[in-house]
Amino acid sequence: MARVIGGLGTSHVPAIGGAIARHAQHEPYWSPFFDGFVPVCDWLKSERPDIVVIFYNDHGLNFFLDKMPTFAIGAAAEYRNQDEGWGLATSAPFLGDARLSWHLIEALVAQEFDIATCQDMLVDHAVTIPMSLMWGSELPRIRIVPIAINTVQHPLPSPARCLRLGQAVGRALADYEEDARIVIVGSGGLSHQLDGARAGYINKTFDLYCMQQLVDDPATLTEYSSLDLVELAGTQGVELLNWIAMRGALTGEVRKIHSNYHVPISNTATGILLLENPSDGL
Ligand code: DHB
Ligand code: FE
Repeated sequence: MARVIGGLGTSHVPAIGGAIARHAQHEPYWSPFFDGFVPVCDWLKSERPDIVVIFYNDHGLNFFLDKMPTFAIGAAAEYRNQDEGWGLATSAPFLGDARLSWHLIEALVAQEFDIATCQDMLVDHAVTIPMSLMWGSELPRIRIVPIAINTVQHPLPSPARCLRLGQAVGRALADYEEDARIVIVGSGGLSHQLDGARAGYINKTFDLYCMQQLVDDPATLTEYSSLDLVELAGTQGVELLNWIAMRGALTGEVRKIHSNYHVPISNTATGILLLENPSDGL
């Protein structure tokens, strides 16, 4: 049977991709972030996952304001990347797992999540940055299932709804018959606001609170509405919804392996949180 071995929350600031391309990881500006990722890479090397299920938000590459699903799931054999304007080199296509995608779609619809199914789906920096942080340029034959959550066009789904989405995904993965080791990724955050009067807004106290609650008691975050998250974490800090969904998919008493928090990278408070999911969770 498939097993969810752990979950990772990570920021996806596009400038991280630029720093990787320039081999700038050890520069003083970048090392507080990249050094924080080393324990994640060590853990991945020893745990050797086969599949990544990634909760992320599309930033206008695959969906635009004219057609915006609240939740969308990829069901493709591969996922191509394109430059959405950040000037990053285009990644090689990521391998999909359409069989697992359809298993998740069946299970999610049966549990009353009305998700858009995408048999053709472009993935943006919110997928490519975490993937290159995790595996560098040597992307192994890792398969991905991308699940997009709308954090862009209001009304946004609530934290409670995103936690339940993650829980439904976690239950469906536990039911999947392939003997695969799966890592769940929540991409985005932490607090940041790129536009408007509060551009540059960062809320360290709230970020650290969320990182703590995601380990011990994620249900407390469901007391917030998505507009509360905008107020507390910034217009783009609401990407925290992807972390909440990731945490929902971890069905056991999770153990924190590692975390890192650094302000700022570009305009963002960057967070990294690695959680192990025990085998007897369900
Ligand atoms: C930045 C952060 C993001 O989450 C994003 O999608 C784009 C840019 C930034 O801080 O530069
Ligand atoms: Fe973003």
